Amino acid sequence: SAAEKSGYASFMLKEIAEQPKAVADTLLGRVDESGTLLLDEVRVPPEVLRETSKVVVVACGTAFHAGLIAKYAIEHWTRLPCEVELASEFRYRDPILDHGTLVIAISQSGETMDTLMALRHAREQGAHVLAICNTNGSTIPRESDAVLYTHAGPEVAVASTKAFLTQLVACYLVALWLAQHRGEKFGDEIGEVVSELAGIPGDLERVLETMEPVRELARSLAGHDTVLFLGRHVGYPVALEGALKLKELAYMHAEGFAAGELKHGPIALIDQGLPVVVLVPSPRGRSVLHDKIVSNIQEIRARGARTVVIAEEGDEAVAPYADHLIEIPEVPTLLQPLVATVPLQVFACELATARGNEVDQPRNLAKSVTVE
Ligand code: G6P
Repeated sequence: SAAEKSGYASFMLKEIAEQPKAVADTLLGRVDESGTLLLDEVRVPPEVLRETSKVVVVACGTAFHAGLIAKYAIEHWTRLPCEVELASEFRYRDPILDHGTLVIAISQSGETMDTLMALRHAREQGAHVLAICNTNGSTIPRESDAVLYTHAGPEVAVASTKAFLTQLVACYLVALWLAQHRGEKFGDEIGEVVSELAGIPGDLERVLETMEPVRELARSLAGHDTVLFLGRHVGYPVALEGALKLKELAYMHAEGFAAGELKHGPIALIDQGLPVVVLVPSPRGRSVLHDKIVSNIQEIRARGARTVVIAEEGDEAVAPYADHLIEIPEVPTLLQPLVATVPLQVFACELATARGNEVDQPRNLAKSVTVE
């Protein structure tokens, strides 16, 4: 009913708007002022944490994209190797698992059959399973050794939005907490990241206030057949998520590519007027990647692409090559997906609406897939 949507036209719009609060709720009580992670609720014994030699993330759909981003954070902060795998593929390839493997199963609903089967397989092989889940008492956390709840509140729209952002935050917390336990040498950086995380709800508020041009752009693209998404580093999974949202909601052909792969194939798709959304890393820090993306943008533009550039505020180097520039706040590189994903959610939602689609209940999809 309209009341349940609190005045929003759809649950999806309501849930997009709830993201600042959802992220704040994921963080609540889990970090202290000194930057220490407080995750005693996650019942992984200290000896298991010390003896972990590998992390494996399993998930489906949007949760899988959260896992792909988590890999960058986990490997960087903990120096543990991390694999990320689609839950539906995992157990069919005889994965290498033992007592030293920490498996992280990410699921909004906690009921996705593929993810459940993957974690059962992992536990049978002696791995320790930590669930990141949004639904209290659901099957996946019940069958796991430990759980960290995302506290995003109920998500009704089939396409995941606030659950995704809070899954990311939960993954960052787990990565930092693992690093804290294992005594990795990122003391200062961990404190900094924790305080940056605290600022994310405010950053998200600002992003949400600047979405009108994104909606306008989306409406102008309603007659197109294809949209491509490019990114690299953590921007690559964000590109995959942007494309998934567009498929799910607008029923358009949408694909995400790693920008470095452009020259190995996707560039052949670039045609006059083809919209290409590009996620640009911060010009600070990893400036090599930034500069490479800027030259990718020049390349595709020279071949006729209509470039939609998502870049950090004040990124002057990229602005001249953007047919449409969407600015996002300056945050540490590993956290950029939190602010970069929101415009893509708004974009897909508006495009779907412009095409006359029902955004909360896309055709052929289910909120939770409880069959294999
Ligand atoms: C379905 C939904 C997706 C979701 C995926 C995984 O396909 O339509 O939005 O990302 O399941 O769901 P889970 O509840 O395990 O996160």
